[in-house]
Amino acid sequence: MTDSLILTEIIGRVGIIRLNRPKVLNALNQELMHTLVSALQDFDKNPEIGCIVLTGSERAFAAGADVKEMADASPFEMIQMGYIEQWDALAAITKPIIAAVSGWCLGGGCELALACDMIVASESAKFGQPEITLGIMTGAGASQRLARTVGKAVTMEMVLNNRHLSAEEALGYGLVNRLTPVDTFFEEALALAKEIAARAPLALHSQKKAVTLAFDTTLPEGLAAERRLFFLLFSTLDQKEGMQAFLEKRPPSWRGA
Ligand code: HXC
Repeated sequence: MTDSLILTEIIGRVGIIRLNRPKVLNALNQELMHTLVSALQDFDKNPEIGCIVLTGSERAFAAGADVKEMADASPFEMIQMGYIEQWDALAAITKPIIAAVSGWCLGGGCELALACDMIVASESAKFGQPEITLGIMTGAGASQRLARTVGKAVTMEMVLNNRHLSAEEALGYGLVNRLTPVDTFFEEALALAKEIAARAPLALHSQKKAVTLAFDTTLPEGLAAERRLFFLLFSTLDQKEGMQAFLEKRPPSWRGA
């Protein structure tokens, strides 16, 4: 399917979404965010898809929220447009999402990558939260997700003084999973997504949920939830198949049931 603001494609069991506003470095306007979330939700509902890759162009993953669109907005209009809720909708997707990031990854764009589950970055990727230079602050999760990922000191420098992280620094701080040459970042993300998409679907679903809870809840609540999800998987055919296949020294054949 082709849309003006995003391009979608399915390769094997991987759903791919490419942000497509190249003239403005994929600035995230309202329409793009609604279209993006709707495409993510479609992939999430599709049993033929096991993993999602979200990417931009070589020059920009996304240079942030569309400044032009929000420049004259009042607080009420900002609330009413339901714009920031789109980041919550992305974070509620149950299938693993890999952000394939090259070039500018700023502001709301960086917050988009942070709301994904993993990041594969090209050597040209630059991560930053420049909101302070516009007289505003982060609004779609960076104050929490960035701080929990790279720690307080680096987060403070990024949000208070617009420090950018190079891809290499981002890898060092644990923001990024893999670092690749610019011309292979998408292929690397796709290869990772294909591997993940081939795994037992219900186990993937529960495992993502459990790790996500590590950021959303207390340790005792998270541990209790993990245990419930763990026990529940013993009701699935895939658990029987996975363990039987191991014992019979053959590859498992997943049913997603
Ligand atoms: C609207 C944008 C944009 C943005 C770039 N453009 N970023 N338009 N919103 N966030 C547009 C430029 O106006 C320009 O349009 C075209 O894209 C190319 O950008 P240039 O500036 O000419 O490119 P370059 O010199 O290479 O500089 C790249 C850049 C710079 C460093 C990324 O564009 C930049 O600083 N952009 C803004 C980054 C930013 O402040 N992001 C945070 C936004 S606030 P024309 O028409 O001139 O060719 C935010 C808050 C999130 O994200 C809150 C919750 C959602």
